[in-house]
Amino acid sequence: MINVGIIGFGTVGTGTARILLENRALLRERTGIDIILRRIADIDTKRDRGIKLPKGVLINSADSLINDPETHIVIELIGGTTIAKDFILKAIRAGKHIVTANKALLATHGKEIFSAAEKAGVEVGFEASVAGGIPIIKVLREGLVANRIKAIYGIINGTTNYILTKMTEEKAEFSDVLKEAQKFGYAEADPTYDIEGIDAAHKLAILASLAYGSQFSLKDVYREGISWISPMDIDFARELGYKLKLLAITKETDGKVELRVHPTMVPEEYLISKVDGVYNAIYVEADFVGSTLYYGRGAGDLPTGSAVVSDIADISLNIMNNSIGRLQSIAKNRKAVKLMKMDEIVSMYYFRFSVLDKPGVLSNISGILGKYNISIASVIQKGRREGKAVPLVVLTHKAREKDVQRAVKEINRLKTVPEKTVIIRVEGKEKV
Ligand code: HSE
Repeated sequence: MINVGIIGFGTVGTGTARILLENRALLRERTGIDIILRRIADIDTKRDRGIKLPKGVLINSADSLINDPETHIVIELIGGTTIAKDFILKAIRAGKHIVTANKALLATHGKEIFSAAEKAGVEVGFEASVAGGIPIIKVLREGLVANRIKAIYGIINGTTNYILTKMTEEKAEFSDVLKEAQKFGYAEADPTYDIEGIDAAHKLAILASLAYGSQFSLKDVYREGISWISPMDIDFARELGYKLKLLAITKETDGKVELRVHPTMVPEEYLISKVDGVYNAIYVEADFVGSTLYYGRGAGDLPTGSAVVSDIADISLNIMNNSIGRLQSIAKNRKAVKLMKMDEIVSMYYFRFSVLDKPGVLSNISGILGKYNISIASVIQKGRREGKAVPLVVLTHKAREKDVQRAVKEINRLKTVPEKTVIIRVEGKEKV
């Protein structure tokens, strides 16, 4: 028998409790272990969460849950990087195994937490921290253990994927769709975390740490959000055969790892382009298995609860089979890996220049692009408004970020370019 205690009776806490209670017999059948929900601690013990807990399970003191000698696994589901961190470190010191869904905490204080756990000989399960119900952590740590990971491309924030999908389908403005997205309850407590790509960057830091055996954190991730995206760019993308997605990308090239989260144009025929609404998907390219793709719900009470319970089952099996530390400790399996600077990355690019409709403007711009070694793949100019600003869209072949930034800076200074140029990175095969 294994006793578990949950700190935080919110959305994910409620989902986890429900799964533990409703599937207790199934879990026993599959693991041979009776996993008991012993306690849930929350400051609010009154609110109705639509779930009936056995008497005495809900308490208001996380400390008494942590210090209960009968509890084997402590599950942190309160989120944030302050109190959650204190609870986890206290529980580790008390010899408890940990399960957490807290991506922000692991992406900022992962080193400290994994080291403390290693020292105390306890496990930390974090399947629920990335992409909710998709078991991507297990994929990287176990399923693909035989492979070197070449690249990961993920749609790992449901809120922004929902917003971009709606903007695409309804040609709607960002700010109108955001309000609607907040109603769904997928958004982080502070929606800036979603729309500025911070949540996706937290998750990418965790995935890249596993893929490349290092300890990346939020500050290692280059990041752009989606609040500046206009329906016009989504339309041009469609015309060029692309969908616009907020992609989290990590790749290793010549021993250097790049980590970036930004709006990206993806060829519309790619499977990942068809991942719409709040769904998440992660595409992993590895040396022996080739390409694999994982798809599912990245948030919500039950999908995230499913991931939490899978960690509970794993740790319970390790306790019962005396195999704690079965997987190499995260803290031990760390090496210094060189980060690729954003300046050094190579990509294709979409530019939307706002140009005065006058003879010679295109040749001016293409001259500057040529000076910086940026080769043009296609050009669209729409509308005819002599002497007024019109959009001029250019798609490039592969170019270096540093050259792109320099060229666009020079172009933005031209008198014939009255507005700042929009730059969106493009993935896929180069068009010939
Ligand atoms: N805010 C996150 C999302 C929730 O929208 O995907 C899951 O981490």
